[in-house]
Amino acid sequence: MKRTVKDLVNLEGKVVLLRVDFNVPIDDGGKILDTTRIIQALPTIKYLIEKKAKIVLISHLGRPDGYDIRKSLWPIAMILMRELPTPVYFSNKVLGKEVEEQIKQMENGSVLLLENIRFYKEEIECDMNFAKQIALLGQIFVNDAFGVAHREHATTYGLARLMPNAIGLLMEKEITTLSEAIQSPRRPFVVVLGGAKVKGKIKFILKLLDVADTLILGGAMAYTFLVASGISVGESIVDDDDVGFARDMLSIAKLKNKKILLPIDHVCIRETPKKKRPFVSEKLDDDMFAFDIGPKTIKLFKEELTKAKQILWNGPLGKYEDKRFAKGTSAIAKTIAKSSAFSIVGGGDSISAVKKAGVEKKINLISTGGGATLKYIEKGSLPCLDVIQEKIKI
Ligand code: 3PG
Repeated sequence: MKRTVKDLVNLEGKVVLLRVDFNVPIDDGGKILDTTRIIQALPTIKYLIEKKAKIVLISHLGRPDGYDIRKSLWPIAMILMRELPTPVYFSNKVLGKEVEEQIKQMENGSVLLLENIRFYKEEIECDMNFAKQIALLGQIFVNDAFGVAHREHATTYGLARLMPNAIGLLMEKEITTLSEAIQSPRRPFVVVLGGAKVKGKIKFILKLLDVADTLILGGAMAYTFLVASGISVGESIVDDDDVGFARDMLSIAKLKNKKILLPIDHVCIRETPKKKRPFVSEKLDDDMFAFDIGPKTIKLFKEELTKAKQILWNGPLGKYEDKRFAKGTSAIAKTIAKSSAFSIVGGGDSISAVKKAGVEKKINLISTGGGATLKYIEKGSLPCLDVIQEKIKI
């Protein structure tokens, strides 16, 4: 078992470098479109405030190429100021005399948010000299950035190798819930997988065929599987490189006696310019594009979900951002919320579908991880977790 922030003693006056994942959707005007990840990081921050530590928050936002004002963490500092019962400061640098001075001046129990760590290319390069300089700013490292724990970066992985460390309460919650769900699933265990790319999810699907009972596939991924089962999908998005893999997965599922459910009807459009209005069809002609699951598919998927005792959902079932094609994803969100199954939802679009449907309180775990969740399920661990110290057994 990994050491958690609650195992740390004598925190009063200590500088704790707390890595969080504040990679939230934000528009060009700095408006934060979804605060889930910030809100979920608050319990660890508040715990450290209670213990009177000096809390230095480190996060990335987006994938900037050098400094980019649109990716500044300043708007996040404003949210923290609103949410926390303590002074919150912001530094537009992550290193150097000014930051050191700012930390020196901090009161115990106050918070300093450093600017976007990815403004420095050394972060994603996991430059250990860079990590060493950051490590000098504090005495303890706490990693609560579950969403980025699959990346070996300077402040997610490097700092843990250099400093006494622990995981935060969010990381602990995510890991405990996910590992229980995978090691002793309540059955039937149904996984709903959507989104555009099959590639990132390949090994994950293989692993799921071990642990889940039924796999429901939607989104662009489903069309690759339909092609693999010999069904024509017109102009719908297909990952040609992965058709062979999808075929293998269908055979493995049969051998293991697992179900893979694919869409049986579609909301689609025809290529002919004047007929852009979407319609429902079971068959996809050569000039048709499918962008969402149709009503019969919704019914089929709902029936399966209603029988489930545990559900994991990652990725939208259609082109959800266009409201003409959002019905399938929204129906699945509502069905999962209504079901009595233990439910885990991960990935930005699925979370926003759950929120739009107003049912997030009905979900057992809203996971802040997208790629990290999939990686954890596939491997049973994450690189940034492996470098955290174990609890000391007494
Ligand atoms: C995420 O949003 O999945 C994490 O914050 C990781 O972001 P990244 O994919 O840009 O590394």
